[in-house]
Amino acid sequence: ARKGSLLVGEIREKQSMNKSRQRFWELAGSKLGHILGVEKTAQQVDADTALVGDQGDVDFKEKLKFSQHLKEKAEAVSDFAKSKSLSQQRQYLPIFSVRDDLLGLVRENQVVVVVGETGSGKTTQLTQYLHEDGYTRTGLVGCTQPRRVAAMSVARRVSDEMETVLGEEVGYAIRFEDVTCRNTKIKYMTDGVLLRETLKDADLDKYRVIIMDEAHERSVNTDVLFGILKKVVARRRDFKLIVTSATLNADKFSKFFGSAPIFHIPGRTFPVNILYSKTPCEDYVEVAVKQAITIHITSGPGDILIFMTGQEEIETACYALAERMEQLISSSTKVVGKLSILPVYSQLPADLQAKIFQKAGEGTRKCIVATNIAETSLTVDGILYVIDTGYGKMKVYNPRMGMDALQVFPCSRAAADQRAGRAGRTGPGTCYRLFTESAYQNEMLPNPVPEIQRTNLANVVLLLKSLEVKNLLDFDFMDPPPKENILSSMYQLWMLGALNNVGGLTNLGWKMVEFPLDPTLAKMLLMGKELGCVDEVLTIVSMLSVPSVFFRPKDREEESDAAREKFFVPESDHLTLLNVYLQWEEQKFKGELCNDRDWCNAHFLHVKSLQKAREVRSQLVDILNTLKIPQTSCHREWDVVRKAVCSAYFKNSARLKGVGEYVNCRNGVPCHLHPSSALYGLGYTPDYIVYHELVLTTKDYMQCVSAVDPHWLVELGPMFFSVREGDTSFLDCRRWHNEEKTDMEEEMEKLKQEQTEVAGRE
Ligand code: CDP
Ligand code: MG
Repeated sequence: ARKGSLLVGEIREKQSMNKSRQRFWELAGSKLGHILGVEKTAQQVDADTALVGDQGDVDFKEKLKFSQHLKEKAEAVSDFAKSKSLSQQRQYLPIFSVRDDLLGLVRENQVVVVVGETGSGKTTQLTQYLHEDGYTRTGLVGCTQPRRVAAMSVARRVSDEMETVLGEEVGYAIRFEDVTCRNTKIKYMTDGVLLRETLKDADLDKYRVIIMDEAHERSVNTDVLFGILKKVVARRRDFKLIVTSATLNADKFSKFFGSAPIFHIPGRTFPVNILYSKTPCEDYVEVAVKQAITIHITSGPGDILIFMTGQEEIETACYALAERMEQLISSSTKVVGKLSILPVYSQLPADLQAKIFQKAGEGTRKCIVATNIAETSLTVDGILYVIDTGYGKMKVYNPRMGMDALQVFPCSRAAADQRAGRAGRTGPGTCYRLFTESAYQNEMLPNPVPEIQRTNLANVVLLLKSLEVKNLLDFDFMDPPPKENILSSMYQLWMLGALNNVGGLTNLGWKMVEFPLDPTLAKMLLMGKELGCVDEVLTIVSMLSVPSVFFRPKDREEESDAAREKFFVPESDHLTLLNVYLQWEEQKFKGELCNDRDWCNAHFLHVKSLQKAREVRSQLVDILNTLKIPQTSCHREWDVVRKAVCSAYFKNSARLKGVGEYVNCRNGVPCHLHPSSALYGLGYTPDYIVYHELVLTTKDYMQCVSAVDPHWLVELGPMFFSVREGDTSFLDCRRWHNEEKTDMEEEMEKLKQEQTEVAGRE
């Protein structure tokens, strides 16, 4: 297994590395994807083979000839994209040859399952074909994506292909961002957005066709939509549903929709040569970087795609690549070809993400370092080499903590095959697997576990309850989640006051549904109303809904930490966030010479995150207005705000145990203050705190913490806490907790039985 921070640690100690890292970040700010190296000729590529030998565990020397042999073919294909117009490119896609058959099948059936290799044109073409065939005359063609990035980038691509302005005929909608208008005919959106739309319009009347894209990803939202759309299909004869899938889950989808026909788009893929590591590798980031450099200096043209698990690893790999390239350039007497290093992960700003689609210059090789986002959602042409670390991050519900956590897992065989396939899109390719063949055969699961079976369902439960799905255990799930997950999510909602004792929505619950927020944050907002601090809580909730506003570049850690400290409100990270926002707003009114960006840079804040927070805030204000909730303010009476924070997070409360060490009040699990917290290194440490979430790295760290008065816990979470001054025994709490839980479960069970009896009688 890989040791998470090994490489980062190493780099920190190496002076020489710092230079290139700084260099990388200078480039990253303005022109990520800068090209390192100089041009080289084909002969020089061959001459460079002398450098082979340092390629880690992967055995590939003997296969070198194979890749040389593929070179010519690859060159021929990659020239294609450069020379053809968008409309010519459209006609070259595999789906184009079956356009009419496919439209015919859709005309005759209400539900069609479409299967095709990634890159065959499903996402970008299907919508346009339906538009051309007249479906958009009587409604929208909607296409759902499990990821925000994909929704945005695909909408852009399609609006280019249709020669329209993005947001007009072709638009997209993701949470807190709606780029569509009245004229929109084709709408890409995340599955979460469509799910929320079903709240307002259960029959989805404005849609003529829905394409559930990337259904094989089986996100929670997709799985819930399956159940809901099945009903829509039954109710609306004029409604069409297309389910697309890249893998072989098609039969399952077809069966779920009453044996819907399956349409296969003929594939046009090239063979991919798969090379396994001989031994398990210690540090896959290190090995992947070496492998990429080796490919770069020894193999023929073709871009490289490396799969890693997350942002930190990707950045580490990018520094290391930039570093090695500089070393090569300065030390080698040989000419080293240009390498364009391109990170891709979901939190990367969209304009930087778009860079992976741009054509690299003549003689430049692209090296894309990506999360599993590049497995199916994003298709990049010209990849001939894939380096697969064999790992990915997955959200998993941890019942011990009562929360979801992103954890690194070995990927499934299906995912590994999908990754390898990325090398064979434009020519015969090679996939370097940094794991052994035996691990592939014996240790990896055949398919990933659907998200709905492994995550917290509080959001889903709230949503289904509001759709008047009385009995969640009977909802038409393709793969039902474990009963315990449903019950524990119901329990969480009950704790927040969103569900009553028999599992129905309370008034508070009904209001919480209105907000596209986690139930906890929705609760905080609504408690702001009770306590008269809506304005303040709004800001905190908005700041928690965007990527971190604090900028901490790797080479200026001390400087940026000092800048952050200036914003600290000692007893609360939540208030610190509020403070940042207030100061940011204030400086704008001052209207001094410095502009937004300069001010943010000087204070080590991400201007984009702050602007995003403002957008989120204004959308939440709209919702508050429709609910007729006035925007009250407590005028900087911070305790009131902390109480509202406490009302939402009392289940995440912790009690001081040692220096910087806390234990969760309910389950006794130890947790620690994060060094970035305003409470860290304070003169005093409060006895009781609540936290936004736990992050599991080397320790269980609490992220975003506020000190609270223990009496608030008693007042706001009476189901857990009672006043027994001096000693609220944790065992007592646990007993309470268990008793309450059983009571509720019993009630829910009873309810279920009653319902079945009623149903039986009818
Ligand atoms: O959905 P599927 O994987 O079947 O293919 P697609 O996403 O529709 O991609 C079809 C073609 O459009 C590919 O050759 C991509 O390279 C291209 N494309 C693009 O250039 N930019 C995007 N944002 C999306 C797709
Ligand atoms: Mg697609």
